[in-house]
Amino acid sequence: MSGFVEKPEPLQVPGLVHLHTGKVRDLYQNEAGQLVMVASDRISAYDWVLPTEIPDKGRVLTRLSLWWFDQLADLVPNHVISTELPPGAPAEWEGRTLVCTSLRMIPVECVARGYLTGSGLAEYEQTRTVCGLALPEGLTDGSELPAPIFTPATKAAVGDHDENVSYEEVARQIGAETAALLRQTTVAVYDRARDIARDRGIILADTKFEFGFDADGNLIIADEVLTPDSSRFWPAADWEPGHAQPSYDKQYVRDWLTSPASGWDRRSEQPPPALPQEIVDATRAKYLEAYELLTGVRWA
Ligand SMILES: Nc1ncnc2c1ncn2[C@@H]1O[C@H](COP(=O)(O)OP(=O)(O)O)[C@@H](O)[C@H]1O
Ligand SMILES: [Mg+2]
Repeated sequence: MSGFVEKPEPLQVPGLVHLHTGKVRDLYQNEAGQLVMVASDRISAYDWVLPTEIPDKGRVLTRLSLWWFDQLADLVPNHVISTELPPGAPAEWEGRTLVCTSLRMIPVECVARGYLTGSGLAEYEQTRTVCGLALPEGLTDGSELPAPIFTPATKAAVGDHDENVSYEEVARQIGAETAALLRQTTVAVYDRARDIARDRGIILADTKFEFGFDADGNLIIADEVLTPDSSRFWPAADWEPGHAQPSYDKQYVRDWLTSPASGWDRRSEQPPPALPQEIVDATRAKYLEAYELLTGVRWA
């Protein structure tokens, strides 16, 4: 089982048509045909959208994405049109709402990895490959790769795992030209972001981008970028290959959910329980810390 523990009802806003409720974001269309993307405080773990929200998470992720879009602007255009609240939108959307170009999304999760962990590590341990790419012997959990690699995945519906696919499979699905463009752009953006993060004491282990085409056929970077929800950020000072690294993301949530304290069995059919306040607070603090370290700007 997976999905939403409690699926939220979309807000009705005059002038906006509700399109979709994603795991974290709610999508609307305005009268100009633009996409209005509202980042909620929802958090997902183990393929579940949890019943507990993390206060300020939507604002942190929105502000961090905007900061990164600026850092990347010379490499790839992004989908942001405006951060102004659409007329009639509730004040609580302030700071977590982006008016964006509505794109024809490319159905590929564009993952770049500079370090080995997660699903990449699992595949490597079986076959010494990641997404079919051969890697050297002797790598372990947290090892830096000889060079960053493009390891695409197919996007799953809410509640399903994304599935790693080979580059050749992506080229078959979307065409060789678009696949090459995605690979090149993904790795270039990763390289830039990795260097910026490294200067701030953070390892960008891997990250996921989504791209789309605008009406003129330009490749545009969309969704959120380089947030703790879409990336693995590790404190560089604690990096030590050979085991799981501490990270600036949902670690507290995952650790608590899988601990006896939660009373939840991941493999059961049961939805996960509400998070205790101390886990909410610790998780919120991690998201804020990541924002402050990366941008060098105090949250409030
Ligand atoms: N500019 C855009 N145009 C169209 N769709 C977009 C754009 N930017 C992001 N999206 C889509 O909006 C959704 C964001 O909501 P999210 O909660 O992250 O969804 P998901 O559950 O798929 O991760 C994703 O499905 C993403 O592909
Ligand atoms: Mg998403």
